[in-house]
Amino acid sequence: MTEILADDAAGIARAAALLRAGELVAFGTETVYGLGADATNDRAVAAIFDAKGRPHFNPLICHYPDAEAAFSQVEANDIARRLASVFWPGPLTLVLPRLVTCPVALLAGAGLETLAVRVPAGALALLRAVGRPVAAPSANRSGQVSPTTARHVLDGLAGRIAAVVDSGPCPVGVESTVLDLSGPLPFLLRPGGVSREAIEAVIGKVARGVTPAAAEATRTLRSPGLLVSHYAPALPLRLDAISVGPDEALLAFGAPLAGAGTTFQLSTDKNAIEAAANLFAGLRWLDAEGARLGLRGIAAMTVPEDGLGLAINDRLQRAAAPR
Ligand code: TXA
Ligand code: MG
Repeated sequence: MTEILADDAAGIARAAALLRAGELVAFGTETVYGLGADATNDRAVAAIFDAKGRPHFNPLICHYPDAEAAFSQVEANDIARRLASVFWPGPLTLVLPRLVTCPVALLAGAGLETLAVRVPAGALALLRAVGRPVAAPSANRSGQVSPTTARHVLDGLAGRIAAVVDSGPCPVGVESTVLDLSGPLPFLLRPGGVSREAIEAVIGKVARGVTPAAAEATRTLRSPGLLVSHYAPALPLRLDAISVGPDEALLAFGAPLAGAGTTFQLSTDKNAIEAAANLFAGLRWLDAEGARLGLRGIAAMTVPEDGLGLAINDRLQRAAAPR
């Protein structure tokens, strides 16, 4: 059962408690309804992809109650601070390098070195009450239209999420503008609630189109055999392993293969949500351990294709693709 909560003190307290406990809670922002989870909780973030039925781990936007909270987790530059002072709270998302101390789950950023941060108008009381970054894509099933009322959210996600905070129809109705400030020039990745002209009035010329990195990501999303280097460990990855060599590390899913040495366990009881939550951290750890011990590669056990298994295998296949 999905609870329908009022946008008042009691409803917000309940929603915050659920989020802090690792549950999924949808909430209205000025743009569209978001499907929120505690961004620092790997399992909760993985559950977002499961509830949406997303076949890929697209990076998620992290929501904060104010610029100070956002900029304590990413490397803000001058341009970011100027834009924040003009447009936050509001429908502008900034992509910036993660700080090494950033507590946000790797899965929320899909393993990227950058993080998309946003201070929305409309959900600030909830974000303050949670006291942690909240990862939130639009609160619809994958491939469906973004929701702008609590009713839309329930149409797609009733029974799949703990609660929805009903704050009425979203005033903006289209998603936030996503601006990449991690490169040498500001780059408009997604047009949205704040116009390009309004941004350019503050910081001057903004490039548009598609960055080479984004083009590569889009291309590989359509063609899982291709490689996005972000997701690839340095050691070669061998899929569907049914045995493991003495010079290989093992990415285990369930009981490890006989003779396994260095092993990272995705999920002892073969839970795909837990496995997704551990995936990027596991690949990084195996890579580091493998290099330290002079191993030849990583053998990955089979993960079934159902539920989040599809997204996990998408990433593993890309990581294993020829370079
Ligand atoms: O208005 C909005 O932004 C809504 C509300 C709920 O805040 N959220 C939303 O999230 O639209 P979603 O997941 O539907 O879209 C996030 C967009 C995607 O295009 C994603 O690729 C991009 O932001 N994005 C997220 N993190 C990124 C990153 N580190 N680098 C580049 N693009 C990123
Ligand atoms: Mg969306």
